[in-house]
Amino acid sequence: MVQTVRIEAVSRERAGKGAARATRKDGRVPAVIYGAKKEALTSMLIGLLESGAEPQPDLPVPVSWPPVIGARIDSLMKKRSEATGKDLNDPEVRKKSKIANFRFYGAPHGMLLFQDASLTPWSIFDMGLFAQNIMLAAHAYGLGTVPQAFLTDYAPEVKQFLNIPETKRMVLGISIGYPDMESPVNAFRTDRVETSEIVKVMS
Ligand SMILES: Cc1cc2nc3c(=O)[nH]c(=O)nc-3n(C[C@H](O)[C@H](O)[C@H](O)COP(=O)(O)O)c2cc1C
Repeated sequence: MVQTVRIEAVSRERAGKGAARATRKDGRVPAVIYGAKKEALTSMLIGLLESGAEPQPDLPVPVSWPPVIGARIDSLMKKRSEATGKDLNDPEVRKKSKIANFRFYGAPHGMLLFQDASLTPWSIFDMGLFAQNIMLAAHAYGLGTVPQAFLTDYAPEVKQFLNIPETKRMVLGISIGYPDMESPVNAFRTDRVETSEIVKVMS
């Protein structure tokens, strides 16, 4: 069962031992909240996009897909365009979509996944498992997630901004929060091919 614990927090002006002691004396627990850089990160990413900076993701973006997959992507884009009433091939709509990505789709939290760049592409598989486990665990708590390759568009700048060594490979971003089920986009479902099309049972 999910249990929600509410923590009342107040910000304090001063840092350091003396300030922490004073906070304790006040009957509070001094704490440091990490991760308050989300808004600034969003601004930086939108700024880079607006300036026309060339995306430099650590993992190359696929330039083309095999015809069968390409056709599925096209059909999915068409259905999404119909469901949202927006032409997703329109450059302006695509730009707005990128901005929504950079805003973590309004989710209160975002996660960025990095691994050591010296690892071979085999290890990207591990990150995929890791990401999926995060998403399944979140789902079990009633949370929604969006895995986002777009959040890696400006990987070098993100690493510099977050003080993450250049020796790390940025693999994926994930937005996380309680989904707004009233939003039409959350009623949209992607198609699935028949299991028999992708699985061959040998007996
Ligand atoms: C590796 C990966 C990268 C993705 N990158 C993005 C992204 O940058 N922006 C986005 O809105 N959705 C992204 N998605 C989410 C998909 O567009 C899709 O919404 C999601 O996978 C759910 O649909 P599905 O159940 O058909 O996979 C990504 C998904 C995966 C697996």
